[in-house]
This record gives sequence, structure tokens and C-alpha cells, in this order.
Amino acid sequence: MKSFLIDTARVAGARLLEFFDKGVDVSFKGTVDLVTEADRTVEELVVGQIRQQFPDHDVLGEETGALDRGSAQRWVIDPLDGTTNFAHGFPWFAVSIGFEVEGTVVLGVIYNPCSGEFFLAEQGAGATLNGRPLQVSATSRLDQSLLATGFPYDRKTSLVNNYDHFVNFQQAARACRRPGAASLDLACVAAGRFDGFWEMKLKPWDLAAGVLLVAEAGGEISDFDGLPMRLDRQECLASNGLIHREMQTVLAQGKRPSA
Ligand code: IPD
Ligand code: CA
Ligand code: CA
Repeated sequence: MKSFLIDTARVAGARLLEFFDKGVDVSFKGTVDLVTEADRTVEELVVGQIRQQFPDHDVLGEETGALDRGSAQRWVIDPLDGTTNFAHGFPWFAVSIGFEVEGTVVLGVIYNPCSGEFFLAEQGAGATLNGRPLQVSATSRLDQSLLATGFPYDRKTSLVNNYDHFVNFQQAARACRRPGAASLDLACVAAGRFDGFWEMKLKPWDLAAGVLLVAEAGGEISDFDGLPMRLDRQECLASNGLIHREMQTVLAQGKRPSA
């Protein structure tokens, strides 16, 4: 299973890089939500591999939706996380694949083919970056922390748009970044580069591999209240654990999705 996942992610990443180098046409899902030929082709490639190897498994892909076989095993795929970066020639995007057994993510990979960074996590066996073990940071104070976040695609039409939280964290933390690929934000928490990450309205494919990476690197993952994280919940708070409570306090001051 693990070697299949690694091989598939490598092939998918290589394909993304080919598209990135030659340039692709961009179309819109919504007013700000882009989709490219690369998103679709790479998802077809990954789903095709899974169908061939594991025809009975369930699949949830961003572009395909749910292929339900009633299996206890499910693959959760974001073929291209960071599409806006990709479409603008900004080399910060990844393929992200999580593998679940009975609703728990047990394997996850996030691969940025531009940097060559390959993040892998296995439940109970830790998280690695290009084979090296990962550990979350040791920063214990929010005012000394570097945080990451992102903004939902409905931010121009919804008041629950994360702008209030962003302002609050800019005041409370050392600094906040918005790199543009949630999976890599989570991978960077696992790697100790970011001390914390929060975002709302993310989808299971944005989160599946990343939440396992953070947990396996010794971090904490929850909703904004500190309750156990669910992939279909609209809130994700990830941190090194040490600043988690302080982040919850800040998040309690802003608007939240109702789900
Ligand atoms: C998006 C990215 C972004 C996050 C958005 C996601 P996509 O995924 O992860 O960082 O802020 O909410 O939808 O559309 O590039 O796969
Ligand atoms: Ca995504
Ligand atoms: Ca995507």
C-alpha cells in the first residue's frame, strides 16, 4: 500500500511539473476558483491507478467526487493543491493523497514537485520529509510564532471569510503567511517551519494527508474549539500543540462557519 502510494504520488507530481513547465489553459469553477487541464488529467491518472490496483476501494477526488463501493478503505485525493499558484507560475503546489481505513487516515503523502519535497506519514510510524523524520516546532508562545492560513473561495460573497481571524492573528502572533496550498501549510507545520495553521471551509482532500503528517510529527489537530478534527468539519486548527490553546482563544473572537 505504502509503496503504491509513493509511486503514484511521484508519477502524479512529475505530470504536474510537465504541465507547469509547458503552461496550461485555465478555466473557472467559480469567480475565483480556477481549474486546469492539469487538475483533471492528474486526478484521472491517480484514480486510474487506484481502480487498477484496488478496484473495490472507495475514492474521493476533488475533480471526480465520490466513487463509492461500500469499502472500509478510501483514497482521498487532491491532484493539484494550490491551483491558483500553479496557474500563475508560482512554484508552490502539491499533489496530496490520503488513505483511510474505516474513516481514519492511516497513510498520507504530499509532494511538491517543484521543490522536490516529498512528505510522507504513516499512522504510528511517524512523518518524514525526503526520508528524514519530522518534528513540530518547540515555540511555546503565540507572540513568537509564525502562522499560516488561507481564505475560502466564497470570501467575496460570504462574511465568514477569515479576514477577522487574519487581522487578530497578525496582532497576536509574530507573523502570518498565506502561501496558497493548504496541504503544504500542514506539511510545514509538521516540519516545524510554521508553528500553527488555521483555515475554514477546507475540503477532505485539502486535509487528509496533512492532518496525519501533523499528528505523526507530534502536533495537535482539532476544530476551532479544540474538539477532535473531522475531515468534513469546516474548521481546521493545527499546531505544535504548545500554542494550541492560545490559538483557540484568538479564533473564539472571530466569525465561524456554522457546520
Ligand atoms: C485551495 C488551497 C488554498 C486554500 C483553499 C483551497 P486548491 O485548494 O489549498 O491554500 O486556501 O481553500 O481550496 O483549490 O488549490 O486545490
Ligand atoms: Ca486543495
Ligand atoms: Ca485542487
